[in-house]
Amino acid sequence: MSTPDLLIVGSGLFGLTIAERAVAEHGARVTIIDRRPHVGGNAYSEADEQTGIEVHKYGAHLFHTSNERVWEYVNRFTEFTGYQHKVYTTHQGEVFPMPINLGTVNQFFRSAHTPEQARALIAEQAGEFAGKDPENLNDKGISLIGRPLYEAFIKNYTGKQWQTDPKDLPASIISRLPVRYTYNNRYFSDTHEGLPAQGYTAWLERMADHPNIDVQLDTDYFDTSQPLNRDAVRGNLPVVYTGPMDRYFDFELGELGWRTIDLETEHLDVGDFQGTSVMNYADAETPFTRIIEPRHFHPERTHYPSDRTVIQREYSRFAESGDEPYYPINSGRDRERLLAYRRLADAEPRTLFGGRLGTYQYLDMHMAIGSALSMADNKLTDLLRA
Ligand code: FAD
Ligand code: NA
Repeated sequence: MSTPDLLIVGSGLFGLTIAERAVAEHGARVTIIDRRPHVGGNAYSEADEQTGIEVHKYGAHLFHTSNERVWEYVNRFTEFTGYQHKVYTTHQGEVFPMPINLGTVNQFFRSAHTPEQARALIAEQAGEFAGKDPENLNDKGISLIGRPLYEAFIKNYTGKQWQTDPKDLPASIISRLPVRYTYNNRYFSDTHEGLPAQGYTAWLERMADHPNIDVQLDTDYFDTSQPLNRDAVRGNLPVVYTGPMDRYFDFELGELGWRTIDLETEHLDVGDFQGTSVMNYADAETPFTRIIEPRHFHPERTHYPSDRTVIQREYSRFAESGDEPYYPINSGRDRERLLAYRRLADAEPRTLFGGRLGTYQYLDMHMAIGSALSMADNKLTDLLRA
């Protein structure tokens, strides 16, 4: 195979968007490499072998955006269903709607408060630490929504997500804890929401489906036995790199911290396990944070079995070397290292860093796509000419 005009490391939504734009706008010949055996990065999903139910391999992915350009762009590759995400939470044997809304408040306090009465109640309860600067996440949570709701719905859930008592977490992790004073329990408030009608993989593969785009799977950029590796390519070819930033520089400034999740999959001989796609578990006694039942992402699909289902229990923990990095921890030390790595990245010849791993930030899908479209607008011409 001849040398491409552009090498993209990583076939997630960032890399796929850059590839598609490089071909459409510049007529470039693009090679995408990915170390995984499939395209799509973390948005990838596949049909469960036993049930045919579409399962999100790296955790539940819900598409939503208020960015008109992104919405128009993604609709070139897939149709979206009308799915609207809702989340419930189990607390002490009772199920409540999330995020905290008037329904949650009235169920929790066994009341029939109007929006105004509920507002007054929460304001009074949030006054416990009035006048004091919250020293940790626990005090911050109480000062935002009051102790009863905080302790029921936030404290232990957050503790499980971080494997840390909120008293030992910085107050800065949360800036707000919204309470909705209506019964609206739609999880997202974006203009557009839905799931790809034919599944994520059909969407993602379609983005790469062009004779100018060559996809090489099971191919690691740091594997010197494959020809398009960093040491061979560096400075010689235009590259968009979407793998981990610290890995690119051989961790020379230290590792950036991430949290990861473990998914425990189970098949059950019932047609419906929990009646909804995501059930959080708010209490400390339950070791997992939530259970996902993927069949509920596609209520319109008639081919799913009526007597079997698949569920995924989700556990959250700190990532160790070799784990999939999912959510940046962003400690003070991480932020210092990030700034130092950014200086190295800026100086790196003919290589742009992008995506959630390449820039060490949590990006929703629409943000990853939006950021790739901006990079294509502002930087691709120069990169391809360099
Ligand atoms: P990725 O999808 O991570 O793609 C990076 C690719 O680079 C991967 O395929 C990886 O294998 C490859 N790569 C890395 N290193 C190398 C290497 N050395 N050589 C070759 N290839 C390499 N977004 C939403 O909008 N809604 C959601 O509900 C949602 N839920 C999420 C749930 C979880 C658990 C996680 C982790 C993320 C979620 N996201 C969600 C975010 C979404 O996954 C990201 O927006 C998206 O993955 C970003 O795409 P990306 O291309 O930047 O990164
Ligand atoms: Na650079």
